[in-house]
Amino acid sequence: MKDIQNWLVDWFKKKKPITELDITRNYFEAGLIDSLDVIDLIESIESHFKIKFNEMHFQDRNFSTIEGLSHMISDVLPKTHEIENTNMAKGWAACYQIYKDRGHDLCYPSETLIRLLKGTYLTGQHLSLKGQSVLDVGFGNGNNFPLYYDMGLKVSGVEIHQQILQQARETFQSFGSLDLRIGTNQELPYDDNHFDFLVSWNVLHYEAQENGIIKSLKEYARVLKPTGRLLLSTTGPDHLILNGAKKIGQHQNEITVKSDFRCGQVHFNFGNKDYIEYYFQSDFKGLKIGRVHDALFDATSILDWWIITGIKK
Ligand SMILES: C[S@@+](CC[C@H](N)C(=O)[O-])C[C@H]1O[C@@H](n2cnc3c(N)ncnc32)[C@H](O)[C@@H]1O
Repeated sequence: MKDIQNWLVDWFKKKKPITELDITRNYFEAGLIDSLDVIDLIESIESHFKIKFNEMHFQDRNFSTIEGLSHMISDVLPKTHEIENTNMAKGWAACYQIYKDRGHDLCYPSETLIRLLKGTYLTGQHLSLKGQSVLDVGFGNGNNFPLYYDMGLKVSGVEIHQQILQQARETFQSFGSLDLRIGTNQELPYDDNHFDFLVSWNVLHYEAQENGIIKSLKEYARVLKPTGRLLLSTTGPDHLILNGAKKIGQHQNEITVKSDFRCGQVHFNFGNKDYIEYYFQSDFKGLKIGRVHDALFDATSILDWWIITGIKK
């Protein structure tokens, strides 16, 4: 909190000398900044803290003092950053580290995603992606990044733990520019209308509750450009992670695979295409829903995914 306030004080000092008293005074009335400076202030805060204010923040009376503003920033910040303290984030960070150390990390892109981006499945024609932007939400160890680079896309990604970001930065340091940030399905630290593509590959079902699914889909649509496309994979009902899962709600399954660190987590399962349409149609149009079902070789090793694409509404 003090760090945030100090940063704000330094910002204001660049405009005019200020005293201790100015921290709690209305900075407009005290003449510390004018209406043009406010735009600069908002942009500087959003870019430094990698947060996004909304209309409600601007109307909040805390917005007019340095002290109030630092409270507001700290209120917005933890929501994105507290995810790092969850067992989910620590579990994934540890998992990627172990896989890398053992040389078992996935270092190849999803075959289905290759087919979607390089084939003609989406529009009936080959896509020309050079120079377009993609956000990969929950990119894992970045196994899809080489595909994006190969196709000339500008690559951004969010993950839920710094260690995951760091590992990917090291892996891809020689590949080209890479914008990686902490974020979640429900809170993506990017501006509205920003990306041509958003990839969410086996990430959405970690939202256990229906309202998390709804919020995530809205957030995905928010950061996509008006013509932006969502490419999403999520577990289908036969997927091996759901072996022996306990059904605890219409769309909720508790994972019971003892050897998996996700044991005890609750995952969302759409169940059928009608429900997928029901949840996606508020934010996406031109929906296409496919399914990849893979059985190599026994009944407990089935991989089953819904593949969903649509254009921001
Ligand atoms: C099954 S892995 C998929 C990784 C990668 N997309 C892939 O296809 O290889 C799921 C990923 O989702 C991330 N994740 C879990 N909860 C998340 C959330 N609420 N928001 C964004 N990512 C999340 C995890 O850290 C993990 O890397």
